[in-house]
Amino acid sequence: MARSDLLVALVKAGNNGDKRGVRITTEAIIAEERAKQHGVLADRLARVLQSAPATPHAVPLAETSARGRDFISERIPRRRLSDLILPLTCRDGINQLVEEQYRADLLRAHGLEPRHRVLLVGPPGTGKTSLAEAIAEAVAVPLLVVRYESMIGSYLGETASRLKRVFDYARTTPCVLFFDEFDALGKERGDIHETGEIKRVVTSLLMQMDELPSYTIIVAATNHPELLDRAAWRRFQVRLELPLPTATELAEYLEIFAKRIGEQLGQSASRIAKQLGAISYAEAEEFCLDIRRRSILSIGEKSVKTIISEQLAIWSKQARSESPTN
Ligand SMILES: Nc1ncnc2c1ncn2[C@@H]1O[C@H](COP(=O)(O)OP(=O)(O)O)[C@@H](O)[C@H]1O
Ligand SMILES: [Mg+2]
Repeated sequence: MARSDLLVALVKAGNNGDKRGVRITTEAIIAEERAKQHGVLADRLARVLQSAPATPHAVPLAETSARGRDFISERIPRRRLSDLILPLTCRDGINQLVEEQYRADLLRAHGLEPRHRVLLVGPPGTGKTSLAEAIAEAVAVPLLVVRYESMIGSYLGETASRLKRVFDYARTTPCVLFFDEFDALGKERGDIHETGEIKRVVTSLLMQMDELPSYTIIVAATNHPELLDRAAWRRFQVRLELPLPTATELAEYLEIFAKRIGEQLGQSASRIAKQLGAISYAEAEEFCLDIRRRSILSIGEKSVKTIISEQLAIWSKQARSESPTN
């Protein structure tokens, strides 16, 4: 049986002719029933909800959903939280989020919703995309990645209406909706001369975020938090920083790599990490892949230790040529 306050809210919204209220309340009931493993009822309610057009002139929802899909790519998540090296506070924050999603029924029984709006801040290659995927994996929902290249339109109002369709699609199913380079929407706005259009996109984005049901987890990633306006920043209930790895974390990454390939590094991981300097995990991954390539091609003639020393020498030169100030 659905929660009594939701049923009362549903009848009230119906009496007042408040279609938006009816939809939001029904979505909450669906989410509650899903959490209670009442899948059949949840699916029936979702079908009934989708068959009702939102406004008299609206496109039928099935069509809207299909088109929303054009602007996202949907993936089954594979990466796991345990695959990632994360700062403790970040790991704690994510674990809390996952727990709240799993135990949403208990929270709802107390009139609370699980948190579901996450902002990840950090330089490239520190695991923002990987973490969005790992959250989806942990909650066992698909990962929907928003594709800006197809979503940003050139006609007035096009981007905002496409964005709305993306959200309409995302709210019909539990998922992680991932906005990579979230500030790109902001920047893109700056490029559009028509200021009305800029406002429209942002307003639409923030409104859609507010209306998302809590079983849709929105994860946004940015390397430029300063470009987000206050209103956008405030929307995120969980804000986590993913910095470049420390020397210790880098050493841990190298040790995991050595274990995976079943080889000894030939020198301590922390020494290698120190020589690598301040690099991202993505760069560390590149370094490790180089080691593997060289090791495979040497067909056992060179030890991993020798290969690592050679690659470190090349690496340090590369790093110097990339940043002439060093
Ligand atoms: N925190 C991390 N722990 C382990 N590996 C990482 C981490 N962050 C990134 N990586 C590795 O670097 C690659 C690029 O990371 P990605 O998630 O795309 O970073 P970002 O989205 O921040 O640019 C990943 O494929 C992953 O193998
Ligand atoms: Mg990324």
